[in-house]
Amino acid sequence: MIESSAEEDSSGSTSPNGKPEIRPSYIRLSASPYSLLSVDQVLRRIMPCQNDDSGDAINDNGNPLIEEIPSSFEVAGHVAHVNLREESLPYKYLIGKAILEKNKPKIRVVVNKIGNIENEFRTFPMEILRAKDWILIYGTEEHGCRFKLDFAKVYWNSRLSGEHEYLVKQIVSSAHEELLVTKERHCIVADVMGGVGPFAVPLTSANASHYHTTPILCHANDLNPISYHYLQANAKLNRCFSDRLVKYNLDGRAFIHKMNEEGVDASHFIMNLPASAPEFLDAFKGWNFESTSSKKIPTIHVHCFGEKARGPEEKSRIHTQVLQRCERALGCPGSLSEPEGRQKTRLK
Ligand SMILES: C[S@@+](CC[C@H](N)C(=O)[O-])C[C@H]1O[C@@H](n2cnc3c(N)ncnc32)[C@H](O)[C@@H]1O
Repeated sequence: MIESSAEEDSSGSTSPNGKPEIRPSYIRLSASPYSLLSVDQVLRRIMPCQNDDSGDAINDNGNPLIEEIPSSFEVAGHVAHVNLREESLPYKYLIGKAILEKNKPKIRVVVNKIGNIENEFRTFPMEILRAKDWILIYGTEEHGCRFKLDFAKVYWNSRLSGEHEYLVKQIVSSAHEELLVTKERHCIVADVMGGVGPFAVPLTSANASHYHTTPILCHANDLNPISYHYLQANAKLNRCFSDRLVKYNLDGRAFIHKMNEEGVDASHFIMNLPASAPEFLDAFKGWNFESTSSKKIPTIHVHCFGEKARGPEEKSRIHTQVLQRCERALGCPGSLSEPEGRQKTRLK
């Protein structure tokens, strides 16, 4: 809002002879223009950026001009996460300040990713550019559930929210069908790399609309002990009771073996570890169906990276590559190329 005040001569608007008269009027704009500018506009004023008209890549002093103003960011709870290019690093604290000030009170911390995800827990090194709060996120929301997590120590990616919602809905709907036929007490799901619970929590929360109509029992695991800690915290926060959500802190393969050894009759396994989930399928070799009461074959949801397809042909080739990775790990070449297997795999 522009705060304005008009300073006018208050002696009246007519001349002594009674005729209307035009007089000068002064308006004072007291607000700082900073408050009116967007993050992008502020940064364009601070950073030496390339001008579309001139196309120059360096300024008069020979210094490089910024190609892309880093005004966009991802949000996880109250944390804004930027991925600054080398050329923007000299301005990083100003960028953090502008993003925080222009997005308060929602944003309370701005972090910059300073390296790639290289560790097994899928966390990335980051530096805090500006903070009014600690990086612990309390209550970021996804599909009606609240999540608590330490953004620096566990994996969390808000861009996966669509995938979380898709799979939760798909599993609930298939569980509904299954329970109508089997009349069992609940449908069982095993989440092998469960993180802080974005699949397990909405599947088992007593606040979920399917809680009474489609009961789901989820065994959720993660190797990262800090993820396990927050999985427990999120279970509490969202009323996931221990008869519906069982938590583990094991290596994924050990967890899969445990499920089989203990005769856990899971209808679904979720494996979201994009770099190597297909290779974890080797843990299903020798799966003992006799150990489960229904001898059912579980559906395994494997999330993995693949090349970006630029057309239907490429998509089909990449599709085949992914299936072959899965087949190699399972030790059954050619078996997933059956039409049914193809229909059941989904590439985005
Ligand atoms: C990409 S994250 C996915 C987490 C969660 N499913 C989600 O969607 O946010 C992969 C998770 O796998 C866990 N992880 C890595 N190696 C693992 C292993 N060998 N066994 C079990 N979990 C593992 C990481 O700690 C991380 O939480």
